[in-house]
Amino acid sequence: MSFPNHRPRRLRTTPAMRRLTAENRLAPADLILPTFIREGLTEPSPISSMPGVVQHTTDSLKRAAAEAVELGVGGIMLFGVPAVRDARGTASLEPDGVLNKAIRDVKAEVGDNLVIMGDVCLDEFTDHGHCGVLDADGYVDNDATLEIYGQMAVAQAEAGAHVLGPSGMMDGQIAVIRQALEESGNKNTAVLAYAAKYASAFYGPFREAVDSQLTGDRRTYQMDAANRREAILEVELDLEEGADMVMVKPAMSYLDILADVAAMSPVPVSAYQISGEYAMIEAAAANGWIDRRGAITESVLGIKRAGADTVLTYWASELAGWLKES
Ligand code: PBG
Repeated sequence: MSFPNHRPRRLRTTPAMRRLTAENRLAPADLILPTFIREGLTEPSPISSMPGVVQHTTDSLKRAAAEAVELGVGGIMLFGVPAVRDARGTASLEPDGVLNKAIRDVKAEVGDNLVIMGDVCLDEFTDHGHCGVLDADGYVDNDATLEIYGQMAVAQAEAGAHVLGPSGMMDGQIAVIRQALEESGNKNTAVLAYAAKYASAFYGPFREAVDSQLTGDRRTYQMDAANRREAILEVELDLEEGADMVMVKPAMSYLDILADVAAMSPVPVSAYQISGEYAMIEAAAANGWIDRRGAITESVLGIKRAGADTVLTYWASELAGWLKES
């Protein structure tokens, strides 16, 4: 060929051409908004390491849920911050505990117009901040924790959650939750398994968001950042146990894992763009170092392109608004 081949660039010439030939698109319905509700608040309380994200009151949470519906967002994930904590996280089981009540309130506000998801994990509710109960040596006791997860799952299903999100990385958690749901007559409540969840430094701001009591780390139950094949094992186990959807978390430093999981999963795949990923982009944008809207859009599109069907992102509503206008 005596001329340069300009086939790639021909499809980039105009915005309309680029739009027509785009391989991936973001849509509001793909997005899930993670939210925090804190017991006893009278005003929403800002989270300093997550500018723009707050701990909600009941009223502000309901407004955020209604706004998400308005914008076409696909789902909302609720995390509760209780006023009182103990070693076993018992506030998680109270029908009127902060999280169960929030699920009920959001359900009353938006009904079935938004997929309502509840976090099934003990770290917000324990006075030591671990995702499960501890044995005499301070080791997180997998099987004793499962029993509580089963009860939490039933409480959240009965409060009206459409989907449960067990985020504690206990072995067998999906099976125990599925069985508890079946036995309690909640057969249509789905489970989004945090299947490949890695121990990550990027969870830092979330710990502020839930006033975490944790000292130390979660490396005995969350995955090691060095491991890739092991993510497939985790996903396979959760699928065998009955997971309706599976998740990879964090997202941006784990796009290889996400692509691997998307290639093998017969169920929808989620990715969680976590608090530290949010904070990094907000901080750089606040300094004028990157273009905020461009960076946010590109980061979520990258997660989608790697294979996520749905993305949990603290920008869900804002991004949905941009997608609607464009
Ligand atoms: C644990 C949980 C965590 C997040 C969601 N669920 C923190 C952790 O595992 O330490 C982090 C989410 C984020 O960082 O945005 N229940």
